[in-house]
Amino acid sequence: MAFPYKKALVIGATSGIGLEFARQLAKEGVKVIAVGRRQERLDSLAAETGVATAQFDIGKVNEIPAFAESITKNHSDLDVIFLNAGVQYVMDFSKPHTVDITKITHEVTVNYISMVALTHAFMPFFQAKSTAQDVAFIYTSTSLISLPYPMVLDYCASKAALHSFILSVREQLKQNPDQRILLSELITPLVQTELHDGQPGWGGDFNPGMPAAAFVEECLIGINQKQEVVAVGPAAGVYAEFEEAKDKRVGPQWQFFKKALAGAHQLD
Ligand SMILES: NC(=O)c1ccc[n+]([C@@H]2O[C@H](COP(=O)([O-])OP(=O)(O)OC[C@H]3O[C@@H](n4cnc5c(N)ncnc54)[C@H](OP(=O)(O)O)[C@@H]3O)[C@@H](O)[C@H]2O)c1
Repeated sequence: MAFPYKKALVIGATSGIGLEFARQLAKEGVKVIAVGRRQERLDSLAAETGVATAQFDIGKVNEIPAFAESITKNHSDLDVIFLNAGVQYVMDFSKPHTVDITKITHEVTVNYISMVALTHAFMPFFQAKSTAQDVAFIYTSTSLISLPYPMVLDYCASKAALHSFILSVREQLKQNPDQRILLSELITPLVQTELHDGQPGWGGDFNPGMPAAAFVEECLIGINQKQEVVAVGPAAGVYAEFEEAKDKRVGPQWQFFKKALAGAHQLD
């Protein structure tokens, strides 16, 4: 099955998983706009693959509406957004001197608040075109939403927040069945990228996990089938064990409360 979208905005395309998505999509003839902070990486990706680029720091949350406006103005054929950028910090609350609250703020901002703001900023554009064609937001999530790894505790919390957000927005969008907006979540296992660079004991010859190219190839099978959840490798078992049943109850439970609390929480 072929990739079902024409132009992809890949946020966090200068290394790791996003870089692989940009490369593999460009190879398939999909138009790509690669986003990241490192201009030299964007330049070399453009030279290698011919993709368009846009340098942007998604941590600048107040600038996200202007970023979305500029992208949609210049790329009116955009129909899929990979919300993939992320950061991860190691800290230990039993050793408070290892905890840097500014890193917690940054991690929650990039991994959660910026993703929320990007979803919000691009939503009207996608809503307007989604009555005539399929569009999608694709989020890079992790099995750590279910099973926290204590040394990256705030990372786990930020991604768990993102997962919860996705579940609710997905249901809210289903209120408008004429709009074909898919929210897809990639439940990711450990992958060999730069995410863990600089972490104690990581680096050099030690970069365990699934190769990024193989991970992206497997994701694309689920993405091409427009799956809401694409759980890969060992992350699939964790998702099935802890999340699947709960996630399926979000919609029915909301419908139940809508009837029971008729009139409550109506906006507009
Ligand atoms: N690798 C794993 O084991 C693993 C497992 C589960 C989930 N994930 C998730 O996979 C996603 C991709 O990470 P990765 O593993 O590929 O790590 P990576 O190699 O470090 O790539 C992270 C990407 O995010 C971008 N980024 C970070 N902060 C940004 C900001 N403020 N503004 C714009 N772009 C920013 C980076 O670009 P610049 O530095 O150029 O800005 C880079 O392109 C993340 O969401 C991560 O949480 C990874």
